[in-house]
Amino acid sequence: MTAAPPTDGVLVDRYGRVARDLRVSLTDKCNLRCTYCMPAEGLPWLAGPQLLTDDEIVRLVRLAVRHLGVTEVRFTGGEPLIRPGLVGIVAAVAALEPRPRISLTTNGLGLDRLAPALRAAGLDRVNVSLDTLDAARFARLTRRDRLADVLAGLAGAVAAGLSPVKINTVLMRGVNDDEAPALLRFALAHGYELRFIEQMPLDAQHGWDRSTMVTAAEILAALRTGFDLSPDPARRGAAPAETWLVDGGPALVGVIGSVTRPFCGDCDRTRLTADGQVRACLFATEESDLRGALRAGADDEELARRWRTAMWGKRAGHGIDDPAFLQPARPMSAIGG
Ligand code: 5AD
Ligand code: SF4
Repeated sequence: MTAAPPTDGVLVDRYGRVARDLRVSLTDKCNLRCTYCMPAEGLPWLAGPQLLTDDEIVRLVRLAVRHLGVTEVRFTGGEPLIRPGLVGIVAAVAALEPRPRISLTTNGLGLDRLAPALRAAGLDRVNVSLDTLDAARFARLTRRDRLADVLAGLAGAVAAGLSPVKINTVLMRGVNDDEAPALLRFALAHGYELRFIEQMPLDAQHGWDRSTMVTAAEILAALRTGFDLSPDPARRGAAPAETWLVDGGPALVGVIGSVTRPFCGDCDRTRLTADGQVRACLFATEESDLRGALRAGADDEELARRWRTAMWGKRAGHGIDDPAFLQPARPMSAIGG
């Protein structure tokens, strides 16, 4: 192991992990207000000039793909579908050489209308967030009465060929933790691939509580009341979800035990916030300012050097269970999921 970041090549850290998967947040804004993410009134949003422009985003993704070994690009938010230039950004990224795989994490609002254009632009796949199938619950949980729009978005994604369509679900105790089997039945019926994600301490209100979090073990136990789950023989690799064959397969369900079954040792992610900061981890306390460097006229070599240095400093793990753990200053919606 060397003591200094490499001066060329891929994004490697001092533990030997290589970041091939780039998450790009396109906006910190959202048209829902999930209680585990944001307060009802929203957050102090980034100002327009703080956001990377479409061209700046494409320049940084090009750099990552051409010079830093990134092979997967996922657009996130906040809610990426509300970024006006989204389709053009996807098209520009799909035209890069080598072409990365391109996916999107969305709450699904408006996806039915946008899916064909996104598919035509080169988007490969989508993950849609859905925590409940009960309209009244959805309205309480997201503070907006929009369940029907999300369901239309899911169907629109399949119709446009953005498959496999995955659903991300966060269970909360006393809110929707009784819905795991029903959500799986729904996903199986429509051919969506369902993944449950343990709730992480990333809410703007700092209301996360380890003792009330619904754990991966509890999620599996709840699913087993209605289904037979057997381990998926395919390897987990860098994918955070542990997958299980449902009733013998081929359908799968995934559980992402970010907190109780951390996968930090296999993490292959690097993140770019909507205001142009590189983060080595969701839980990083440091960021590296690429926007400032870029606007000061830095060339690709200088930007690549900064990016490599930021990743070199990635910590071994998220440390949520460490008594000294500090929640990152920015919430999930500003970092990108
Ligand atoms: N813990 C786990 N998942 C979260 N998400 C948002 N906040 C949290 C959290 N604190 C999920 C959303 C969406 C994805 C971007 O991350 O539900 O599926
Ligand atoms: Fe929006 Fe996602 Fe936060 Fe919900 S969790 S408010 S959909 S950014």
